[in-house]
Amino acid sequence: MLTGLRDILNIAKEGGFAIPAFNVYNMETVMGITEAAEELRAPVIMQCYSRLFTNKEAYFLAPVILAAAKKASVPVCFHLDHGAGLTEAVRALRYGATGIMIDKSTLPPEENTAQTKQIVDMCGALNIAVEGELGHIGSTKDEIFGEYTEVDDAVRFVEETGVEALAVMVGTAHGRYKKAPKLAIERIAKIASATSAALVLHGGSGVPDEEIKAAIRAGIRKINFGTDLCYAFLDEVFETSRELVGIDMFMKPPTESVKNFGMSKIRLLGAENRV
Ligand code: 13P
Repeated sequence: MLTGLRDILNIAKEGGFAIPAFNVYNMETVMGITEAAEELRAPVIMQCYSRLFTNKEAYFLAPVILAAAKKASVPVCFHLDHGAGLTEAVRALRYGATGIMIDKSTLPPEENTAQTKQIVDMCGALNIAVEGELGHIGSTKDEIFGEYTEVDDAVRFVEETGVEALAVMVGTAHGRYKKAPKLAIERIAKIASATSAALVLHGGSGVPDEEIKAAIRAGIRKINFGTDLCYAFLDEVFETSRELVGIDMFMKPPTESVKNFGMSKIRLLGAENRV
């Protein structure tokens, strides 16, 4: 069932686990994740990067996500990931998203607060919850990932913006790590106990299982997986025989691979059998 960001995060808060949030790109990745969620009775978030809304893809992909979410017997939230600005947020709302992220984390804190609050106010008119980001979570290509989010800053940001979910910089980055990351577990625990916002861990690909589990114990309630889902899909595409010409047949192994990837992360995050 199509579910709002607030409601799906509440399931995680009450159950003390994290909702897996998968970046999806096409019908097959949506199918793989939906099947994984159904089979394991798990609430999931399917999210699209902002550029899909800047460009044309989300216009075509959103109806596929909505159809999957409405057909599913488990809660599915359709979320804008790292929303770049008003254009992408408005398009996501118009295309039916039930969660919005606005990412102004590269701006000075006052600007980040002001621009995030603007989106929270707009989404509030539609009763849609917003994820913000404080402390920039960069790319694994960067030499230094960035400064950890400070506890006091997080408390102030949540209060002043009204975000329901907060992406925090606690040692992760987006992409493939050269070296497995070590997370700032104590920092997560301190932020989690100081604020009511659901904390979000970005850059879930390649984070060791034990670090993921410790982050959830410390209070992380949503974990994003993008890069490794792409590899799960693309590795199979490159393996699949050129003799297979029917695109639906060609796409079956990559779709199955995404499903298996999704199931492994659902289990890791303790999201299995929650609904
Ligand atoms: P990865 O691609 O590193 O898994 O990060 C995904 C993410 O955080 C999307 O916002």
